[in-house]
Amino acid sequence: MIETYLNTIQKLSAKRGLTNVEKKRLEKDLQAVSERLQKKEYQKGGFSMNKFDVPDRTREFYVYLQFYCLIGKTWAAVLNELHIEKYKEIVDLCPGYTPKIELALFYLKYKGKLTILDKDRNAMNELEKFLALFEPQYTINKKTVDMFRSRAKKYKMVLANHIVDDLVIDYFSSKWSISSHDLYEKEGQFQALWQRVLEHEQDHYVEILPQIVRALEGYVETKGWICITHYKSYMEKLLDLENATRFTRKLLKGVIAELIKKGFKNHEEIPAKAFKKFRGHFGPRDCFVLQKLV
Ligand SMILES: C[S@@+](CC[C@H](N)C(=O)[O-])C[C@H]1O[C@@H](n2cnc3c(N)ncnc32)[C@H](O)[C@@H]1O
Repeated sequence: MIETYLNTIQKLSAKRGLTNVEKKRLEKDLQAVSERLQKKEYQKGGFSMNKFDVPDRTREFYVYLQFYCLIGKTWAAVLNELHIEKYKEIVDLCPGYTPKIELALFYLKYKGKLTILDKDRNAMNELEKFLALFEPQYTINKKTVDMFRSRAKKYKMVLANHIVDDLVIDYFSSKWSISSHDLYEKEGQFQALWQRVLEHEQDHYVEILPQIVRALEGYVETKGWICITHYKSYMEKLLDLENATRFTRKLLKGVIAELIKKGFKNHEEIPAKAFKKFRGHFGPRDCFVLQKLV
């Protein structure tokens, strides 16, 4: 039976020729199958998904959208307390492919300019397309930047959703010459990188902390604000990365402490007030609002 399927795949792909997208998807599936076989994962369970199960597909799509919208609403509760409408320009650091802070600004009917900064142009293009479905009243300005390398322009209002883990992954994957593209696309690579980071956890903590502090501090004007959140991510839940969650939480606390030493004030009362009125995906312990005083 297995041989029949392998022959069919070979014959069809040779006879018809595959588009680049088809080829990439098929290669990824086959690679995943071959890795699961090597690791004996089929002994533990199956992975197949029935694409024609319409209720299941609809539910899956709904669950994703519901999650993004809940994060957006949770952010909106905080941004409401920050009177976001006063700012002509707002910055979102490393938004990736999907709108979250963008949805918050949509819910709040923000009308200014949102600048999104990410090193991946393609991710920002996809995010922009996704967001266009909602027709927000603000404009989007995309800037391709590497937060660890570029000299930052400073802004009055800087927002960052769940970026500490992204920066850790980016920093160590560059350092160890691992393609960040592979990390998010290939099963196993993401876990392997975290294992390596956590093997020498304390050394890596000490190494990455000042890099993140420098990168974040550089974007904020004097008297300007930065608002950062961190909660257990979907990826961490899916891949059982409890220790990665613990590491990034500790790291964010360290980053906040360093920013305070550098003249930022932690406005704990702002998330506290926001979450008194609204219970969202994250709460006051996962959200830091700081103002640069000097
Ligand atoms: C997983 S995605 C989206 C994460 C997003 N913060 C969220 O909560 O959904 C991570 C994004 O961070 C970006 N990123 C990682 N390191 C970066 C860096 N040093 N400079 C700029 N963007 C970076 C990646 O390009 C990617 O689009």
